Amino acid sequence: MRLFFSFLFVLPFLSLTHAASIASSLSDLKKQVIDGKIPCRGVNLGGWLVAERWMTGGSPAWTGVPDDIANEGEYCTMKYLGHEKGDKQFDEHRRTFITEQDFEEISAAGMNTVRITVGYWIVGFDHTWGPNINTWKMYAPGALAYLDTAIRQWAKNHNILVLISFHAAKGSQNGNDNSSPEALGETNWFAYEENVNNTLDAVEFLANRYKDDDAFLGIGLLNEPQGNATDIPVLQQYYEDAYVRIRTNVGSDCLLSISPMLWQQKPYDGNWASFMIESKYHNLRHEWHHYHVWGFGADKWTPDKIITWINSVETKYYDEWKGNPILVGEWSIASQFKMDNATLKRFANAQINMFKKAIGGWTYWAWRYYDNSGVEWSMKHMIQRGMLQW
Ligand SMILES: *[C@@H]1O[C@H](CO)[C@@H](O)[C@H](O)[C@H]1NC(C)=O
Ligand SMILES: *[C@@H]1O[C@H](CO)[C@@H](O)[C@H](O)[C@H]1NC(C)=O
Ligand SMILES: *[C@@H]1O[C@H](CO)[C@@H](O)[C@H](O)[C@H]1NC(C)=O
Repeated sequence: MRLFFSFLFVLPFLSLTHAASIASSLSDLKKQVIDGKIPCRGVNLGGWLVAERWMTGGSPAWTGVPDDIANEGEYCTMKYLGHEKGDKQFDEHRRTFITEQDFEEISAAGMNTVRITVGYWIVGFDHTWGPNINTWKMYAPGALAYLDTAIRQWAKNHNILVLISFHAAKGSQNGNDNSSPEALGETNWFAYEENVNNTLDAVEFLANRYKDDDAFLGIGLLNEPQGNATDIPVLQQYYEDAYVRIRTNVGSDCLLSISPMLWQQKPYDGNWASFMIESKYHNLRHEWHHYHVWGFGADKWTPDKIITWINSVETKYYDEWKGNPILVGEWSIASQFKMDNATLKRFANAQINMFKKAIGGWTYWAWRYYDNSGVEWSMKHMIQRGMLQW
């Protein structure tokens, strides 16, 4: 992975040893990533600014919170804790779960990108109207300061680009803990115009805030939307409106990543292949999340069968795709199997080889798993064990 990194990164820019050229090389790196000349090789700082209990068990965020409430995400947890306790607990989580040292390690491992998940409350306002204009106040304040530090200091210091992932939209776009619904399974984003408006305001705010920062790569406009077929036009209109707001209102050419409905990822991708690819759109990625966990149980699969399936079937999804460049925003070598090291490495390599076909590159899910029990979910751990080389 070192060789690969040097080839792509060091060759185009002569000297990385002087401070001035480090700053300019980060913006050059950004340009080449946006132009599709260098793929993202990166990792999600998952569970940090949108806390997810399953991967952060043991974090101070959840102290004193029953599991069934913690498993519903930040909204329900903060509702249970209240600000007096909750603000301190979430601040402690944000302060300790990811630090500058993680950026240093990610850079040393040869990566160029982190994907940072955020929720709509991070912006600290709701300018829409309707009955729920105060829901953002339920959350612990202060997440924006961490995002500022990540983009303006840590990422910059270590030559890392930051892709913000809009993970938790008001009303929730998928009903899962990672989008912080008011109750698990409630997906109210699509049906209420004020929720979509709130997301538009928030992505515009973020694009504007970081538009001049070298380390700011761009925004994933909505993570894993999970509406039904009648919701697709709402989603597509949101992407077009967000595009106009960011390109025109903000005047930013940052990377914008667009996710189809979760159930519409290859091979069920239908009309997304021709969506927003006309000449008036630019700097877009089409985002897939490609896991081998759900639907890959021992009832039908073995590790070898999965590896063969990746090599013979799934790899063709990437060959055949005709739309905007693919960014594999999430993948991992977690599975429902306990694999020995040799098999795990073959499983990893099959995926890494397939994802080489994604022009936009990839970001692994995730960097840290709190107590290291779900080790395959932790890229940090898997790199240390020698399982991930690219
Ligand atoms: C599909 O979405 C529409 C609009 O959000 C909603 O009214 C309808 O109940 C949904 N249908 C199903 C089957 O979930
Ligand atoms: C959403 O935004 C549109 C366009 O600005 C506006 O016409 C509409 O009233 C807004 N709706 C809500 C509920 O905020
Ligand atoms: C897998 O590799 C790690 C690190 O090299 C080692 O500690 C561990 O014992 C290995 N596991 C097996 C089952 O061989």
